[in-house]
Amino acid sequence: MDRKDKEESRRHFLARIGADAAALILPATLVAPAFAQVCAPPGSTANPTPWTRDCRSIQPRRPASTLTGTEISKLKAAYKAMRDLAVSDPTDPRGFVHQTHIHCHNCGGGGSSIQVHFGDRFLPWHRAYLYFHEKILGQLIGDVNFRLPYWDWENPAHRTMPGAYTSPNNNTNPLFNSPRSMAPGDTLDPTDGQPATALSETNFADFSPELEGSPHGSIHNAVGGDMSAFDTAAKDPIFYAHHANVDKLWSDWTNADASHTAPVTPAWLNQTQGFFDENKKWRTIRNADVVNHEAKLRYIYAGRTWEFITWLCIRDWVLVDKLQLIDTSRLQLSQTTRQKLLPLLDKAEMRLRLISPQLPTDRSASYFLYYDESDAKANRGPQSPSYLGLISVVLMSKEGDHKMGSPRKLDFDLKGKLKGLTDRTSEFSLFLAERNAKGSNAAVSKLAVRGVEILRGQEG
Ligand code: C2O
Repeated sequence: MDRKDKEESRRHFLARIGADAAALILPATLVAPAFAQVCAPPGSTANPTPWTRDCRSIQPRRPASTLTGTEISKLKAAYKAMRDLAVSDPTDPRGFVHQTHIHCHNCGGGGSSIQVHFGDRFLPWHRAYLYFHEKILGQLIGDVNFRLPYWDWENPAHRTMPGAYTSPNNNTNPLFNSPRSMAPGDTLDPTDGQPATALSETNFADFSPELEGSPHGSIHNAVGGDMSAFDTAAKDPIFYAHHANVDKLWSDWTNADASHTAPVTPAWLNQTQGFFDENKKWRTIRNADVVNHEAKLRYIYAGRTWEFITWLCIRDWVLVDKLQLIDTSRLQLSQTTRQKLLPLLDKAEMRLRLISPQLPTDRSASYFLYYDESDAKANRGPQSPSYLGLISVVLMSKEGDHKMGSPRKLDFDLKGKLKGLTDRTSEFSLFLAERNAKGSNAAVSKLAVRGVEILRGQEG
């Protein structure tokens, strides 16, 4: 736990002590919940008006690190107006505090039962959230052409937090948020912000959880502070630039190949999400309405699109074999599996798929995954022969009243790693080492899984 997180848990601890003390003297009805912030929508959601169309001109969302001075001033003015509104009229759903509550409420915060993470709502819900948020910001500064910027953290030139959010690095900047652990000038670890595995997925059901785990989760943790728990994440304005990039990667993936489509089941297409719009009207919007962001939501992404290289030749990931599970944390490579794998050594794109990995839920953190215990203890990351990739855990709440859900599956590229794996004769396990615990004494834990599959990229 770093210094800032320590301070934060101390603050939460003090807040709890305070609430417990209050419980002794106040009638129960007056006691606020000790652990969960109240984050329900301010006002009735009983009679929604369905969203129908947007008639604005199509405008680009641009990389946050390349905004002009004028664009930065507008962005700051918009967030200042949103923050001011929260003070001048705390009941206005467009105010900043209520905007942050939308995310909290939709991740189970404040006792709500809604959960937009770890499932097929993740991408459409966040797209709709940003859309309404962006329209409100534009309205508050009287500019219908205002569009959110995005933090393109996968671009090696943009691994520091975009300057507008850190300069000045204090409360006079409406884009600043004090609990961050990432300081101005800090650069992301190169293992953060890597969307290549997600972008090479060939269907939405694999793409979405892969993108959500890492890079999405790892950037939440890298920024730290409010960003490292879902109930508080949207209090940091960088959240919206981060999610605009997640949204852009969905857009890039969709544009990369005609076969990369959103789900077509009526259940998914007709799933609705509710938001207050820029006129304080409660709206519902369907997943079907957000799939084509250009035609329907009136924005496109400017700047570089992810460079799709070799994996575009991959039309499908096909199962080579399943590893044998002795129990949930002990695996075995049988003779038959090895026979199937040997001809594939370094010939094809290969991938390891973990089914329902049971991740640690004691705190938000990013872990390196290895298939060799001594490599995990040395924790040298990508240079290690048995290093498989990054796993990020972002809790719903740091306060322990609601934990994270579990990803359904996570994929890891096995290129160049297969030889080491097939050399294993006996049983083995998968090991997690916390990324920040550098050096030879990293605390290492075994990862429990419900299944492990080996997949091969089929070119088409
Ligand atoms: Cu709703 Cu990045 O989380």
